[in-house]
Amino acid sequence: MSGSTRRSFIQGGAAATAALSGGFPAVLRGSDDRMVRLGFIGVGGRGTHLLKLALARKDTQVNAVCDLRAEAANRAAALVRDSGRNDPGVYAGEDDDFRKLLAREDLDAVVVATPWRWHTPMSVAAMKAGKAVAVEVPAAVTLQECWDLVNTSEATKKPCMMLENVCYRRDVMAALKMVRDGLFGELIHCQCGYQHDLRHVKFNPGAKFGPGSKGEANWRTQHSIQRNGDVYPTHGAGPMANCLDIDRGNRFVTLTSTATKARGLHEYVVRQGGADHPNAKIQWALGDVVTSVIKCARGETLLVSHDTNLPRPYSLNFRVQGTGGIWMSDNKSIYIEDLSPESHRWEPFEKYQKEHDHPLWKRFGEEAAGSGHGGMDFFVVNGFVEALKRGLPTPIDVYESASWSAIGPLSERSIARGSAPVFFPDFTRGQWVVSEPTFGLDDQF
Ligand SMILES: NC(=O)c1ccc[n+]([C@@H]2O[C@H](COP(=O)([O-])OP(=O)(O)OC[C@H]3O[C@@H](n4cnc5c(N)ncnc54)[C@H](O)[C@@H]3O)[C@@H](O)[C@H]2O)c1
Repeated sequence: MSGSTRRSFIQGGAAATAALSGGFPAVLRGSDDRMVRLGFIGVGGRGTHLLKLALARKDTQVNAVCDLRAEAANRAAALVRDSGRNDPGVYAGEDDDFRKLLAREDLDAVVVATPWRWHTPMSVAAMKAGKAVAVEVPAAVTLQECWDLVNTSEATKKPCMMLENVCYRRDVMAALKMVRDGLFGELIHCQCGYQHDLRHVKFNPGAKFGPGSKGEANWRTQHSIQRNGDVYPTHGAGPMANCLDIDRGNRFVTLTSTATKARGLHEYVVRQGGADHPNAKIQWALGDVVTSVIKCARGETLLVSHDTNLPRPYSLNFRVQGTGGIWMSDNKSIYIEDLSPESHRWEPFEKYQKEHDHPLWKRFGEEAAGSGHGGMDFFVVNGFVEALKRGLPTPIDVYESASWSAIGPLSERSIARGSAPVFFPDFTRGQWVVSEPTFGLDDQF
């Protein structure tokens, strides 16, 4: 840690501690005098949510906010003020204004919650400006960007943590604990996916998207025109990578990916705006269901699916399967050969959830309640802030952020080559052989 960063952690005291209203818990963490000084870049839907979580803590100052849209930046600044903290610096109006925020010397870290194409450029610039980075998912959209994150973090010695909140989902953490306790035996196969009908998000209002549209319709939909691959892999792959010890004794080696035809978005446009709507002429690149299979160095497979253009209930479709048994999240069921009462029959997961509830959830479950996405959002912010305060590695590091994000561009490459296998880069440059798992260990935060 640099001298100035270390100093900032022990300054403390000045920030106000008022809890926010609006359903967010008043967090009693950080009652010591170590403060983390944050800047926020991108305060739309997600960034505002993360900001509120940071403001609900006693150990954060928020000294600057930035958004392309002045009204979003000003709204964020008002939230900071209303929390009893000092007025933050506000940067708004230009694509490049985040660089002015990064030039400030009173920030230890920045939180990046902008459209995907900005994640890596902003994170790289932040690390070069001496700031630690928490970046939304996926951390990168090309393989070069994955390497840029790794190389910059190594060169600057600044951490870059992708905010993969699903790693902290309560059932996922119980399953991870069960994996480590050996209940599933030796792992053989895992499965996951981002299966979320986003049609109402991709078009807003009606059949419109692009400039002038609300929220993610403004930018996310364009990816479905230009890219055919798993453009949002990490909510599923991150938690399963933890179970599989990826980059910590194991690694992703090859990937094959296959896309279906694209029909969902066209049909939605026609239903919303009629067959003559200008957007009905669009040729969508993104297949409605993209299925990738990853082979791991230790011999396991991981199936990852992306399915956001068709009518369907939400599911991340987790499955963890080993020589001793299987858990599946969709039917909330489990079968463990030596424990389940009847062979060939599922048992409800509920009992196992209680027995194997992760120590982090036992410790912080009440504080986490109401923090968003079933409580897991509390943990991802807590993990980042606590790591900085203690001068320890972040719970998700830059190598994991790169490896999980790389599934996106690799799946595009495989599909473009007729589902040919493509090789994963080893972002750890061989360190995966000796690195040990740390995420979710009992003494972690
Ligand atoms: N982890 C999760 O559960 C979760 C949930 C939702 C969104 N996300 C991720 O969070 C990110 C943001 O998504 P969102 O839903 O908040 O989108 P959004 O469109 O609501 O917000 C993005 C914000 O970034 C701003 N922006 C765009 N370009 C900018 C620039 N150059 N400088 C500063 N600000 C800029 C926009 O004006 C907007 O306010 C995305 O990466 C998304 O995938 C993650």
